[in-house]
Amino acid sequence: MSLKSAITGTGHYVPPKVVSNFDLEKVMNTTDEWIVQRSGIRFRHYAEDGVGSKALGLEAARKALEDAKCDPADIDFIVAATLSPDHYFPGIGVQIQDELGCGNIGALDVRAQCSGFLYALSAADQYIRTGTYKKILVVASEVQSHNLDYSDDGRDMAVLFGDGAGAVVLEPSIGGAGHEILTTHLFSDGKNAEILSMNVPDSTKNPTFTSEVFENKLYFPRMDGKRVFVNAVERMPEAVRAALAAIGKTIDDVDFLIPHQANDRISLMVAQKLGIPVEKVIRNIERFGNTTAASIPIALDETVKEGRLKTGDLVLLTAFGSGFTWASAAVRW
Ligand code: UT7
Repeated sequence: MSLKSAITGTGHYVPPKVVSNFDLEKVMNTTDEWIVQRSGIRFRHYAEDGVGSKALGLEAARKALEDAKCDPADIDFIVAATLSPDHYFPGIGVQIQDELGCGNIGALDVRAQCSGFLYALSAADQYIRTGTYKKILVVASEVQSHNLDYSDDGRDMAVLFGDGAGAVVLEPSIGGAGHEILTTHLFSDGKNAEILSMNVPDSTKNPTFTSEVFENKLYFPRMDGKRVFVNAVERMPEAVRAALAAIGKTIDDVDFLIPHQANDRISLMVAQKLGIPVEKVIRNIERFGNTTAASIPIALDETVKEGRLKTGDLVLLTAFGSGFTWASAAVRW
């Protein structure tokens, strides 16, 4: 029988500062009513000045390692996903490797935006399946709040995003220990890259930083929300169906669906399109907003720690985001 990988520990961390919709009303032109109606979000966490995605990722990683009873020195590979690294380069993978106190192991940075965690998980899964590595730390971390446009030009995005991090430890599934990854599926469609993107720093421009960049605020992320929405509600179900087909299961066999928390209306529509009862869909966006790559591991860890997942449950994870990228994973809990 071929080697499979299993999740042996989970963890998440969000910075302590909680920002409500009413707090946002004080700094920008929006209302609690608009945000709740359009997205289901009431609160999000914001990192303080000086705290970036490396710091949040580190905290989440430590919790996942503790949960897996794993010493940092035993980790033999890191896969880190973020669209908001502390620096343009290097990525947060090497920073986490250093500050955790791991050996000189490989640290792979993944840039797949909201699908980043599932891309990272899938990459880690392949390394375990081939026997290359035996203990992999998969971490997804985001600090978006430091670079959002809180003016009317960017308020559609600014109200949606929150900061946070989630992590899992992956090991070979031997003797039933851990929660086995049954399959992962990754997709992309780059012709939609401009629909949700941050275009500066831009290496095609010489020089990159011109007065135009600052005058036109080109350093902020921008999105066409409606187009993102219509694609998200098609692509996540597509990714889930691909996972189910690969493992010979139907939607009725699924015990929990953990979709990327992009917008509660998106999660509900994904559930409706798949025909899965809403009670089986994990939804925590009300408290965290959209934490991009971190949203799935945060939701997974919360669900685990609340004791909702039982041995043998079939858990489906799915994400969609900038790129466009979309993905799924099926896990036997
Ligand atoms: O992880 C993937 C990342 N992104 C997403 O998943 C986002 C997907 N898209 C969405 O969630 C929704 O499109 C939004 C929540 C962003 C927007 O909802 P919508 O129903 O598509 O609203 P809209 O863009 O059509 O905007 C409606 C109105 C506009 O005013 P007018 O032109 O009708 O006068 C906007 O200017 O709402 C206005 N608006 C706001 N009003 C108050 C936009 N943002 C805000 C705001 N507060 N924050």
